[in-house]
Amino acid sequence: MVPAEQPTLYFLGVSTGSSSIQRVFPAWAAELGLDDAVLRGIDLPVGAPAEHTRRIVEFLRQDALGVGMQITSHKISVGTAARDLFAQLRPLATLMGEVSCVTKGPDGLHGFAKDPVAGALALDAIVPPGAWAERRANAVVLGAGGAGTALTWCLVRQERGEDRPATLVVTDRSRERLDHLASIARQVGPDVPLELVQVGSTDDTDAVLAAQPAGSLVVNATGLGKDLPGSPIGEDALLPEGATAWDLNYRGDLRFLDTALRQAGERSIRVEDGWTYFVHGWLQAVKEVFQVDVPTSGPAFDRLSDIARSVR
Ligand SMILES: NC(=O)c1ccc[n+]([C@@H]2O[C@H](COP(=O)([O-])OP(=O)(O)OC[C@H]3O[C@@H](n4cnc5c(N)ncnc54)[C@H](OP(=O)(O)O)[C@@H]3O)[C@@H](O)[C@H]2O)c1
Repeated sequence: MVPAEQPTLYFLGVSTGSSSIQRVFPAWAAELGLDDAVLRGIDLPVGAPAEHTRRIVEFLRQDALGVGMQITSHKISVGTAARDLFAQLRPLATLMGEVSCVTKGPDGLHGFAKDPVAGALALDAIVPPGAWAERRANAVVLGAGGAGTALTWCLVRQERGEDRPATLVVTDRSRERLDHLASIARQVGPDVPLELVQVGSTDDTDAVLAAQPAGSLVVNATGLGKDLPGSPIGEDALLPEGATAWDLNYRGDLRFLDTALRQAGERSIRVEDGWTYFVHGWLQAVKEVFQVDVPTSGPAFDRLSDIARSVR
């Protein structure tokens, strides 16, 4: 890897060249006055040896103009294989067991987990504060990976008081992932009932949906529909009446959202994609790495979202 020649935010992922942020970052940099800052992607295949992740973090540590790194894949590997290269891991990174954003301080590298922060901002935009207390519906998170676990934190943490789902239901194919998510849920919101369902087919997941009360939130956090084609639910799965269907993806074949859209009118389903989450996730990284104020709502946030949409 060649050292940076101007202030550089690195972006570690699997196929960073095809991400919208390649076009969005220069537009935001101009808007936020980060005139000479650039974004540079680093691709590492899924399942790459931990040693490779470590070398990338070591490179960042030594690269004078490398100001930070946003990580979309390999977050767990950065937080574990490169743990000793960090001067500090922030509390959420330690709790989640992963690092999604790296900044540089006078003492060295700082590791953050930004998915819970961005997820909470996106969740508040989709389910406005106060709404859970009113409707006593469930939240169903399909997929207990990094994003599903971050959303669990957002949904059940005790600070939210009454404004939490009646029950949190989480599905995954792996018992181990469900157990890891449960250990975090129990630390931050032990009083929200948690139902873990190990699924092996779309029929299993459709049965989970059929058991939910009206008005529930159903989140596709499986990666199906983007990382891999397909959907965690069957083509004819019925969402709860008045549900909100939220796919964390905003690109890909988005079949989960297609199923939701087909019944939107008849069953009053609200359909949301992952765009707002994407915008919050990257703006939180820009804020932390470049130490600039970024809006989280209102016209100023909408403007940055619109700028991003116009170039994505
Ligand atoms: N909009 C945004 O800015 C944003 C931010 C964060 C994440 N995301 C998106 O959210 C998705 C999840 O990300 P992630 O980092 O959490 O991925 P991840 O760590 O791979 O987690 C996905 C989890 O879902 C499980 N899964 C797969 N198929 C399933 C099914 N049919 N039913 C239940 N669980 C299933 C996976 O199990 P296996 O390992 O067995 O497949 C894995 O445990 C990705 O598409 C990502 O792009 C979007």
